[in-house]
Amino acid sequence: MTNQLKRLIRSLPKAELHIHLEGTIRTETAIALAQKYSHLGLIDAVKKLKGIDTFTGIEDFLAYYQLCMKLLRSADDFALAVYEYGQAMFAQNILYSEVHISVYQHLHLFQKGLNLSDIFNGLEKGRQKAHDDFGVCIQWIFGIPRRRHFNSDGIFNPEIAVTVLEYAVQGKECGVIGIGLGGNEVNAPPEPFERVFKKAKEMGFKALPHAGETDGASSVWGALNELQADRICHGVRAIEDEKLVRTLAERKVPLDICPTSNLRINLYPSLREHPFSELEQAGVIVTINSDDPSIFGTTLCDEYLALAKEFDYSNKDLARFARNSFEASFVPNRVKKTALQKIVLWEKETHRKERK
Ligand code: ADE
Ligand code: ZN
Repeated sequence: MTNQLKRLIRSLPKAELHIHLEGTIRTETAIALAQKYSHLGLIDAVKKLKGIDTFTGIEDFLAYYQLCMKLLRSADDFALAVYEYGQAMFAQNILYSEVHISVYQHLHLFQKGLNLSDIFNGLEKGRQKAHDDFGVCIQWIFGIPRRRHFNSDGIFNPEIAVTVLEYAVQGKECGVIGIGLGGNEVNAPPEPFERVFKKAKEMGFKALPHAGETDGASSVWGALNELQADRICHGVRAIEDEKLVRTLAERKVPLDICPTSNLRINLYPSLREHPFSELEQAGVIVTINSDDPSIFGTTLCDEYLALAKEFDYSNKDLARFARNSFEASFVPNRVKKTALQKIVLWEKETHRKERK
């Protein structure tokens, strides 16, 4: 049964809307990069990462995420990471993906000597080759690291966010479609970022902040009302506020839900307690995502499978989640049209086989 379900999920055409490039690096590639840059002394730490299945919390996880960030140090490294993610997309029948990148950290931390054009060259080379070899389509979300904007007294300085927006403007031709807001939400609320997000939206970028992961409903309200979020990254803790759940459903603001990520950083003890199904039953548009698949030891197909088993989802339910993933995305129209047609065919085919 599980193998059959695995095959079905694999064959379902999907989009992935919440994934960080730095969290996609395959273990073998991470070790090879750590060896390439052996002077950094990261080999043992990278090998250890493979064995970790739970983090004590987001800060513990973010330390490993930083480790992955340190490994990408040249245009070729970026091209390789993107290409290999394209390969993973193909293996899972993910036709389209919106990928977060911590561009500010790559350019300003870890003394890499990189410049913005190195990053664009790498991203573009990787995505073009992935498109040519695997037919997959990728667009980028440039992340604002929220915590770095507040000093120890909680005073806000927008400088980094403004810089990230400038980078995004320069990357429009290379497929940058949105602005993210990542990191630990605690003591780093969304409201002070209002002006930067307003400007970003006026310039045609989508607002895609993390909220309702490590902080509760107030963070989601802020992302919704002050940042005019087009989707909420995670947003699961909206479940703590009934009015917020109703508002998300009424305004049709989708949530990028990443179940395994939430379990691994200890937000919920098990999938049984995870609010995915409750949010969806309340009418909220939900999509399924893997967040940082290599760090959390998961894949998008694993996420669909785990949810299908836990909540007993039918093929029709799974097709609805896949459809949501394209409807909630900013995929080019021609890709969207074909993908939705393919989902209809998948449903017909699976229905026909069920009746046999
Ligand atoms: N950056 C990468 N993964 C993240 C997550 N789950 N939450 C916040 N920032 C992140
Ligand atoms: Zn994320």
